[in-house]
Amino acid sequence: MHVVFIGAPGVGKGTQAQRLREQRGWTVIATGDLLREAMALGNPLGVQAKQYIERGELVPDQLVNDLVEERLQAVEGSFILDGYPRNVMQAEQLNGVLQKHRKPLDKVIKFDLPEEVLIRRLSGRRLCPQCGAVYHIESNPSRLGEQCENCEAALVTRQDDSPETVQRRLQVYAEQTRPLIEYYEARGLLIRVPAEGTPDEVYARLLQALGK
Ligand code: AP5
Repeated sequence: MHVVFIGAPGVGKGTQAQRLREQRGWTVIATGDLLREAMALGNPLGVQAKQYIERGELVPDQLVNDLVEERLQAVEGSFILDGYPRNVMQAEQLNGVLQKHRKPLDKVIKFDLPEEVLIRRLSGRRLCPQCGAVYHIESNPSRLGEQCENCEAALVTRQDDSPETVQRRLQVYAEQTRPLIEYYEARGLLIRVPAEGTPDEVYARLLQALGK
């Protein structure tokens, strides 16, 4: 199955994608993670992406389009695109790539959550800079406190989770990504999944939406 995840910052896309990877063996292509990896390596893509991510802006389309096409070429079996496409230009580009590689989209999952809950999720998020594990100080704390349960590295707050940058990311989402809802609705691909409740509850709804 070939699936796109759309939803505002902090809605839980990464958390749910991770579950499908662990429990069903699906490949996850998450542009945010790929860009953060490039930033940590300090390679040319990372250096270019950093200035946009830190301001809460989208990274230029060409940079992410190339990154995704490279990954899609290699993927076998079911995949999730988490956080891509994020505007209509990227969606058009994705159509072309998927047609070329004969991997048509089956479903687009749109996660829904009120803004005050999004902000609570983002302000409490903690990230392991070493293995990428994601925690939340209230809903999913590390058993080791400020250290990662997997690799014991000190947890950090994502630089773009500061209150000012979160406001800008929400604005960018409303202006540039929300139009994709109509775009995919018109193509009969969009399914809405309420993202309230525990990760387990959201996962159960997600599996139902995917017909699993
Ligand atoms: P990206 O990393 O994709 O950020 P995002 O879309 O803003 O989404 P987040 O990662 O913030 O949230 P999420 O929905 O994955 O939530 P999570 O599961 O972590 O992108 C970052 C930046 O990269 C962008 O701003 C842009 O600059 C650039 N970029 C990326 N893709 C791009 C593209 N295609 N084009 C251009 N630029 C691009 O959950 C959040 C927190 O809530 C966690 O702490 C988690 O533990 C907790 N949580 C999750 N589910 C629940 C639950 N059910 N109950 C309670 N807590 C929960």
